Amino acid sequence: MSSRHRPSIESRVYIPAPGEASDVELMPAGDVTDGVVRAGGTIRRPHQPQSLAVAAYLDWLEDAEFDASPRFLGRDAAGRDVLTFVPGQCAGSVPELWVQSEELLVSVARMLRRLHTASSGYIPREHPFPPKAVRPDSPDSAGRTLVCHLDVTPQNVVVRGGVAVGLVDFDLAGPSTAFKDSFNTAMHWTPLHDPADLWPGWESTDPFRRLRLFADAYGWDDGERRRLPAVGIEAMALSRERMRHNAAALGGGWARMWNDGVGELIGRRAAWLEANADALVAALTA
Ligand SMILES: Nc1ncnc2c1ncn2[C@@H]1O[C@H](COP(=O)(O)OP(=O)(O)O)[C@@H](O)[C@H]1O
Ligand SMILES: [Mg+2]
Repeated sequence: MSSRHRPSIESRVYIPAPGEASDVELMPAGDVTDGVVRAGGTIRRPHQPQSLAVAAYLDWLEDAEFDASPRFLGRDAAGRDVLTFVPGQCAGSVPELWVQSEELLVSVARMLRRLHTASSGYIPREHPFPPKAVRPDSPDSAGRTLVCHLDVTPQNVVVRGGVAVGLVDFDLAGPSTAFKDSFNTAMHWTPLHDPADLWPGWESTDPFRRLRLFADAYGWDDGERRRLPAVGIEAMALSRERMRHNAAALGGGWARMWNDGVGELIGRRAAWLEANADALVAALTA
């Protein structure tokens, strides 16, 4: 849908085409949003405080010819957000062995770079993102922020033919910096974890090699490579604070994750980044 034919975000109503498939399939549960379902070629998600901001960002990405994100089609008769279904495979909550593919890792880094290029220049005006309840992300050294995804996990990337072709679940999107989004993505996909927290079957993967592959494919510069451990440790402190806040304030999936020990996991990850800071920089710069 080109911008010429798009009704405004707030008045956009999704009307199914006559005869459109209406059988509903429950999607694999993510961490947070209950009740994500597929109906034919669409995904239906509960409407949320950030929904209109996300929809406006998705419109911008469509106009910028970023082809991996879903389109916001409007709201259905039940008030749910309707998005295009992106066909392919997403990882389960414990990522399967196919997620280890280095070709896939490189394609995720390239897709993220394309997202950041497409996002450049986007300033949410009519539909701003709800302010972060815990400390907004700080701008980069030049004082700039970039609206980006901020939750590029294996569960939120759609894979076809062994490469990343789709990026879904923009619930955490908002103004941040490209380096924070790419650190966060690398953290999820390397993954950067205390070895005690590695997923089953991932014990023999080499985080240093995978991080370097990601960095080269995304295109981190030398300064970013050297700042990675410090940026990562700072991000973990913030992430822990936000998770704790969301668990108390919002409950639901956030409280489930907190009760399952995500705070401790983040603490172990920060300690691992600290203990391996020199080795990480060496792997990135050698
Ligand atoms: N637009 C989409 N196209 C294809 N699959 C999707 C789409 N949106 C969500 N999914 C699938 O549904 C799962 C859960 O939806 P998601 O939006 O990620 O919710 P949560 O906030 O719970 O993580 C995703 O991991 C993915 O497998
Ligand atoms: Mg998700």
